[in-house]
Amino acid sequence: MADANPTPAPETVNVTVDGMEITVPKGTRILDACAMAGVDVPHYCYHPGLSAPAQCRMCLVEVEKAPKLVPACTGTVADGQVILTESEKALKAREGVLEFYLVNHPLDCPVCDQSGECKLQDYVSAEGPAMGRSKEPKRVLGRDDFGGDVLFYADRCVMCTRCVRFMREVAQDERLAVVQRGHRNVIDTFFDEGLDGNLWADNIVDICPVGALVSKDFLHKARAWDLDRTPSICPNCSQGCNVRLETRDNLVQRIKPRPNPEVNSHWMCDFGRLNYEWINRGGRIEAPLVRDGDRFVPVSWSEALTRLAAALEEGPLGEARAVVSPFMANEDLGMLRRVMDVTGGGTGVYRCEEGEEVVLPGFPTLALRRDRAANVMGAEAFGFSRAGGADGLGGLVEPGSYEGKLFVLGDELADGGEGFGRPSRLFVYIGHFMGAAARNAHFVLPATTFAEMEGTFTNVQRRVQRFWPALQAPGMARPAWQILGVLLAGISDASAVATASDAFHALGEVSPAFAALSWGELGQQGAVLGSFAQAGD
Ligand code: SF4
Ligand code: SF4
Ligand code: FES
Repeated sequence: MADANPTPAPETVNVTVDGMEITVPKGTRILDACAMAGVDVPHYCYHPGLSAPAQCRMCLVEVEKAPKLVPACTGTVADGQVILTESEKALKAREGVLEFYLVNHPLDCPVCDQSGECKLQDYVSAEGPAMGRSKEPKRVLGRDDFGGDVLFYADRCVMCTRCVRFMREVAQDERLAVVQRGHRNVIDTFFDEGLDGNLWADNIVDICPVGALVSKDFLHKARAWDLDRTPSICPNCSQGCNVRLETRDNLVQRIKPRPNPEVNSHWMCDFGRLNYEWINRGGRIEAPLVRDGDRFVPVSWSEALTRLAAALEEGPLGEARAVVSPFMANEDLGMLRRVMDVTGGGTGVYRCEEGEEVVLPGFPTLALRRDRAANVMGAEAFGFSRAGGADGLGGLVEPGSYEGKLFVLGDELADGGEGFGRPSRLFVYIGHFMGAAARNAHFVLPATTFAEMEGTFTNVQRRVQRFWPALQAPGMARPAWQILGVLLAGISDASAVATASDAFHALGEVSPAFAALSWGELGQQGAVLGSFAQAGD
């Protein structure tokens, strides 16, 4: 029998863009339809995360039978429509618009932070006038400190109002306005209040299409074309905003948001954006170290892991205790759980710093979350439970005085003290820095940070999201899943894991919810994990 209520097929229309016929959903804006056809229509004021005021007139296109040119950002497609983005009329109109912008825009390109990713540069070189006709001096407005991380170069502003609309519509904290009229128009803050204290203000630097709004943190640090860009996940809270790590000289120079409609739309918070120096911190452990009496001896990986496997098999050491970091990947945490399972089981804890939760009003799915680490959910999924206080410290007395075997994964044990782990018969430290507590370990194994490896985090919505290696690992450091995977293959009949995808698929063995996900399907935007029993449930 036919379904009484079939899902209605989405209504579509056929349009022609520059001679190319395409089918798009009814109601699509002309600018988006052109993008679907692979045609980039110049635009300043339109941004997919904001309202469209059709203000800049940069997106004018010709639509056959329409009496005048149409702004592609507000016009919507109609069936049979013929759109011409490169017709003589459209090109001439946009060239005029660009000439108008250039009347006052200074040619700051050699010193402007936006050079290389400026929409004025791009459009002028693609279709702007060959020569300027204006002989008058350009207006000089100078620059203004808008507060927070934002600096305003008024001369470069093209008055697209994206920044004003972001603060009004998305941050819902109206702190910017267009003041004066006509050619005296300028963006300003209200009564010198500035952007100080608004957690989302740096997003206006991202969306400013020219170099009018720049980040003080990034100012004159690097040219856009010198940066390498790697898709990643912000590690600074459990929201898991999709970001790009922008790197040069093997250091993170800045972090920019990457769109994901399910997690962070186009935005990210200033706390996460500016909290990257720890990723660049030097002084890392660079070689596997094995205790020999009072000193550590650097050894090869195969020797370290062979000796560790022998020590584990010598046993019986009984149950293990573990202290793990919620900054480690799912693959790292899951692999440690597997190693613990085959060597007698045991319990483990993680510590996480907590802070105030701040929601983005215009996109309430996004908030700076209370837990200031990316993978608290991952730690829970693999059976580790929370310990310590809201400052991310404490909770180490029990594991630190445990006499059986002890694993530490990624936690720097800053408050561990010199006695931590001394009573343990086998103390394995897998991490990044050699603190006082780690010096008591029998084995010290250098691991990579999330920025140096491929892996996944599970965010507060249980969305499992991938990140990619952006930096070179120091010395002999390896991903913890790889270290533990080789160890596991040495002490059990588990097969060796060669790649991050192998390590991900092995997670299903310790947490069934992961078995339902496939590495390939995670893509760049992640996939949601089914439910799992959390410690204490
Ligand atoms: S400062 Fe930038 S975003 Fe704001 S109106 Fe000017 S050009 Fe547009
Ligand atoms: S909300 Fe959290 S994940 Fe997103 S940018 Fe801020 S700190 Fe990073
Ligand atoms: S993008 Fe269409 S008028 Fe500005």
